[in-house]
Amino acid sequence: MGKILTIADLKQQAQRRVPKMFFDYADSGAWTESTYRANEDDFAKIKLRQRVLVDMTDRSLATEMVGQKVSMPVALAPTGLTGMQHADGEMLAAKAAEEFGVPFTLSTMSICSIEDVASVTSKPFWFQLYVMKDRDFVNNLIDRAKAAGCSALVLTLDLQILGQRHKDLRNGLSAPPKFTPKHIWQMATRPKWCLDMARTKRRSFGNIVGHAKNVSDLSSLSSWTAEQFDPRLSWKDVEWIKERWGGKLILKGILDEEDARASLDTGADAIIVSNHGGRQLDGAHSSIAMLPKIVDAVGDRVEVHMDGGIRSGQDVLKAVALGAKGTYIGRPFLYGLGADGKQGVTTALEIIRKEMDISMALCGKRLITDVDRSILA
Ligand code: FNR
Repeated sequence: MGKILTIADLKQQAQRRVPKMFFDYADSGAWTESTYRANEDDFAKIKLRQRVLVDMTDRSLATEMVGQKVSMPVALAPTGLTGMQHADGEMLAAKAAEEFGVPFTLSTMSICSIEDVASVTSKPFWFQLYVMKDRDFVNNLIDRAKAAGCSALVLTLDLQILGQRHKDLRNGLSAPPKFTPKHIWQMATRPKWCLDMARTKRRSFGNIVGHAKNVSDLSSLSSWTAEQFDPRLSWKDVEWIKERWGGKLILKGILDEEDARASLDTGADAIIVSNHGGRQLDGAHSSIAMLPKIVDAVGDRVEVHMDGGIRSGQDVLKAVALGAKGTYIGRPFLYGLGADGKQGVTTALEIIRKEMDISMALCGKRLITDVDRSILA
């Protein structure tokens, strides 16, 4: 692995190990990628206040997200096709998160299924739901997540229609993947990835094939997914899902104060300020720019989380200072996974933890639960 000190180091390693089409799938945003870039760039504009001669012993990053204890306010975000960054990727990442004491969120569009992940974890993980037109399938997913003991449902609201990513189109990446000679060549240049992949049978969408009606193979899956995202999804559906689920509910993809206020009526336990990592509406504000506005609008009535552009522990600290009770990382853990499997995910989490811990101390705080806007310059 060489000397890995930053998330950027992991990204470089992942690029060397993961076939181009799958690396690009993770490392891309919608259209001009301006929102994707803003997510990262806007963190750099926020400055921390350096304090001195404050007792810095006995520090703790431990806190809670939706009433659950976490060793630091960072969860793994739901990401589709994670099992293509590394064989059995979701199972490896879930295990790494469990050992680290942070939540893992399994995507509806994962390669490993809910049951696969449950079979390797001993603590509850979180499940992310996309509301498909096929409501029987949605009910079935909710029931399976309950049966697996998932302790929170993350309902994604910002993908009623799919944003376009030029890199995926240029690479000919489709859902599910259809391999052309170009793809096979890209894979052949990544022998370690191929060997790992040859050892697993998990190469399709584990939550869908064999579970959705009439979806049994790659070609039926292809036509099914293409028309399943529901453009008519409404607040009423959110209420229906909350009732059916009956547990902790987190709404993902709120980027506007008005939507944040509307979400209060659903009785959700938390909202995630998110623009899907810049993969949906290109030209939208960054998540970190919208976070304080949304916290000011609803932060006293619902727990506010955020994701998008976090690449360091300092970024998490800034988000917490601006009112986020929890944050999520997508690409940083995917880079870790692509670079070195489960160990790479642990490395990503360790890097972020160390950066957060030292930076918090240098801001004159010992407890993450005491961090507020006063640490910002
Ligand atoms: C995502 N994201 C996502 N979100 C979701 O609700 N369901 C999903 O299946 C996916 N899939 C997905 C795939 C990939 C490759 C990426 C990078 C992202 C969005 C994700 O949950 C999160 O919002 C962003 O990744 C956060 O931004 P960063 O941390 O990647 O900058």
